[in-house]
Amino acid sequence: MCGIVGYLGKNAAPRIYAALKKLEYRGYDSAGIALLSDGKFTVRKKVGPVAGLKIADLAGNCGVGHTRWATHGAPTEQNAHPHVYGRFAVVHNGIIENYRTLKEECLARGEVFSSETDSEVIAHMLEHSYRGDLLEAVRAVTARLVGSYALAILCSDCPETVALAREKSPLIVGRGHVGLWCASDVPALAEKGMQLYPLGDGEFAVLHGDEAAFYDRDGAPLEKKPTLCDAARDTPEKGGFLHFMRKEIAEIPSVLRRRPHALTACGGFYEALCAAEHIGITACGTAYHAGLAAKYAFERLARMPCEVSFAGEYRYYEPIVPEKTLMLAVSQSGETADTIAAARLAKERGAVVAAVVNEEKSTLAALADFVVPVGAGREIAVAATKSYAAQVLTLDSMAASLAERRGLRGYGDLLKELPDLAEETLSVGEGVRAWVAHFLSARSVYFIGRGVDYAAALEGSLKLKEISYLPSEGYPASELKHGTLALIEAHTPVVAVLTSEALAEKTMNAVHEVTARGASVFLVTTVRACAETPGLAGAVLLPQCGDVFSPAISVIPLQLLAYYVSLARGNDPDRPRNLAKSVTVE
Ligand code: G6P
Repeated sequence: MCGIVGYLGKNAAPRIYAALKKLEYRGYDSAGIALLSDGKFTVRKKVGPVAGLKIADLAGNCGVGHTRWATHGAPTEQNAHPHVYGRFAVVHNGIIENYRTLKEECLARGEVFSSETDSEVIAHMLEHSYRGDLLEAVRAVTARLVGSYALAILCSDCPETVALAREKSPLIVGRGHVGLWCASDVPALAEKGMQLYPLGDGEFAVLHGDEAAFYDRDGAPLEKKPTLCDAARDTPEKGGFLHFMRKEIAEIPSVLRRRPHALTACGGFYEALCAAEHIGITACGTAYHAGLAAKYAFERLARMPCEVSFAGEYRYYEPIVPEKTLMLAVSQSGETADTIAAARLAKERGAVVAAVVNEEKSTLAALADFVVPVGAGREIAVAATKSYAAQVLTLDSMAASLAERRGLRGYGDLLKELPDLAEETLSVGEGVRAWVAHFLSARSVYFIGRGVDYAAALEGSLKLKEISYLPSEGYPASELKHGTLALIEAHTPVVAVLTSEALAEKTMNAVHEVTARGASVFLVTTVRACAETPGLAGAVLLPQCGDVFSPAISVIPLQLLAYYVSLARGNDPDRPRNLAKSVTVE
């Protein structure tokens, strides 16, 4: 949520602008830049994405910028960052939970606020606390903040200086060939060979001239060793596709092919997996759906009890953590606030925690006992696609290893086939383009399936709603007659997923029930006889992939469907309204 950038060096404005554009996956409700030059701030803000921010006449060698995902206050120019008060300009990523109390104090002093944000209070408090030492003022103010923040701060008394603070929101300092940077995430800093210094929770930094100094929570100096930026990974391009989302779907076969990270190579993880007597999976959004898909593999293949929870719920329902629990915290970004909090709680209650992440240098990875990378490569589109397939395969591989270890059955060959099957599915999946017209003005859409196909149906439904804005629900096919059937009208689109031969008849019963009530049914199936059922509005016949591991494959046509419907409705599939890729606030 929100991307922040700071830069010290020549020609700051266009550099900050370009860096902000690379952080738009974190939010694009509004954008702003402040430059400090000759003791004065020049500020530019606008509603909407970064493009069009008027910076041509902004001169200066020191500045900060922000791209916003609104939490407190509507996406307006006033609420856009940077927030300037007195000698301070501040950009903030996070939420200040006690901002009302703090604001009351400022108002009591007669200070006037120009926005409705929680963030503006920080600029006011800095102005009040500053006694000539910037770091001391930042430490004094942040000591009073409750919540999460990554802050980049300019002070008009301190030329060529950016002060930084971090608590529960990511912030990285970068030293390039020219200039010193800070940003919320690596893509904004992706210059080959840039030295990267991630800040930890409670840490501070002061960038001044070409020096970067780091401090711990108590203000004591810290030595930090840099890592080098891998520009090839960190600056993805669309590679001939119109959108990142479409490119990332196309990458699924190669992601699955590359995946086999032997679990034994994850620093003792395999031993922890084998020692576990209970698996917990906690995650949000698409990662949660990957966890649901894997539950079937853990329980059916490995006979291992597995409980899947929404991370945002888990942290508040006083969870019971059985002895010998291995908690798999699944997150593409490794920065989702709820998943991080749930993992922490599970750890406090005695679970061994493994972070199943795409971003290995993330906060979640840092707090976990083990890190299992899913290896999808950087994912840019807000709607997760290739990371879902990689998460499913990674979790399923764990279940398969356990099954083998327990002498139940080997699944290695089946898993090895998945990349080729994904390749084939990509091409047959294009058939969904013919379905698009049926969806364009639907009042609601339903995705149904049973068993593992229900997990895939949930993900298909999420993809469609987030980028097409059509109301859409995923249901177990068995549950239809307990309520949802009342919503089926003539031409209501129903997408049924069916990869389990054993459940084919059951799912087809539901298909007939909705067809009889006028629904237009679209089937995604591995069962030829079902695909040829008369009366279907459309069918995609998937290659045989076995039902347990199928969500990594059956999701592909569903992702393509969401993409093409989104395009046909004139949306930007890469940047759905109101959403952000990385939800770093609760
Ligand atoms: C946001 C994104 C989703 C993602 C979810 C969890 O809602 O828009 O695509 O699935 O966060 O993110 P994570 O990084 O933890 O997998």
